[in-house]
Amino acid sequence: MTGAERTETRPMTNGQDLGAASPPAAAARIDAPKSGLAAGRRHVLDMDDFTREEILGVFQNADAMTEVLNRDIKKVPTLRGKTVVTLFYEASTRTRVSFEQAGKVLSADVINVSADSSSVKKGESLYNTALTLQAMNADIIVIRHGHSGAPHFLARHLDACVINAGDGTHAHPTQALLDLYTIRNHRGNIAGLKVAIIGDALYSRVARSNLWALTTMGAEVVLCAPPTLIPLDFLDGSRFEDGHPFASVQVESNVERALEGADVVMVLRLQLERQHAGHLPTLREYSRLYGINERRLALAKPGALVMHPGPMNEGVEIDPEVAHGARSVIEEQVTNGVAIRMALLYSMATPARRQSERKRKSGRSVDPAQRKMLL
Ligand code: CP
Repeated sequence: MTGAERTETRPMTNGQDLGAASPPAAAARIDAPKSGLAAGRRHVLDMDDFTREEILGVFQNADAMTEVLNRDIKKVPTLRGKTVVTLFYEASTRTRVSFEQAGKVLSADVINVSADSSSVKKGESLYNTALTLQAMNADIIVIRHGHSGAPHFLARHLDACVINAGDGTHAHPTQALLDLYTIRNHRGNIAGLKVAIIGDALYSRVARSNLWALTTMGAEVVLCAPPTLIPLDFLDGSRFEDGHPFASVQVESNVERALEGADVVMVLRLQLERQHAGHLPTLREYSRLYGINERRLALAKPGALVMHPGPMNEGVEIDPEVAHGARSVIEEQVTNGVAIRMALLYSMATPARRQSERKRKSGRSVDPAQRKMLL
């Protein structure tokens, strides 16, 4: 890690108390990180509007949250009185549970709504579901949806802050942030690293958000898959104008060439549930030609990091020996996901409160006569 980068990424502590500390005081408070999300940001919808500075700001907050998570008593009162709703229309283990844990460690009230057990089953629309949750004063809504753009729709129509926990094939920004945070924790610097993203890029929201984040941070990215699983824009390199961040992304259909000298090997899940056409002859052939095994991994740099967002199809895109081997940081990714999501909830909750308070004071004032009756 370079000195400059270490200075940039070290958590900044200014000693501000984030809430009424309950005993033992030292264990119940965190020193407020000075940085975080950009001022004025209300939603986290994708990585395409994040600057390098904002990403580093999230890392700073995540460092402080990691410190909280390493305590014996993992609880701070920072978000007491805040309500976080997780609204999941698609299955999830890592993302949903880590948002729930993140909210609970920060003392927020966390309410989990799954489409399977809500009035969505009776045909209630996304819009009406979200309005209902907002009417219950949710401060932050974390949504996963099968349709690309669903979180953007909510962000347009709700007062609550919205975090995209994965929408269709479009974006998964909190996954990209935790992936980059994991890389930074190991390598210090993301700029200049060769990151080989291998697998189903066509259907991967993780790949898309990582492409934005990695290119913003100056990584050298190689995208590798059979041509049937590479988005058309990348197959025809001329589609990105000079200066577009993706113009620098290298596309490679040969996995051995993609792995040569890689600092990070990011393996993608084959999104079989999303694939409609016959992209692959057989899974066996895909595994034979693109599966990451120890022999292939030897082409990467010694000590290269092996990453996978999960869930994995072990034996298809990645061999178990690699997935659970010495170079794998896959479980660390999951652990870091909690710190990153705490950092985001922390940064977003305060502006959310200010906004809802403003709104209560202005637009929804109660008629004095009515107020008398209410009292
Ligand atoms: N990486 C990821 O999004 O995993 P889950 O589907 O388990 O949340």
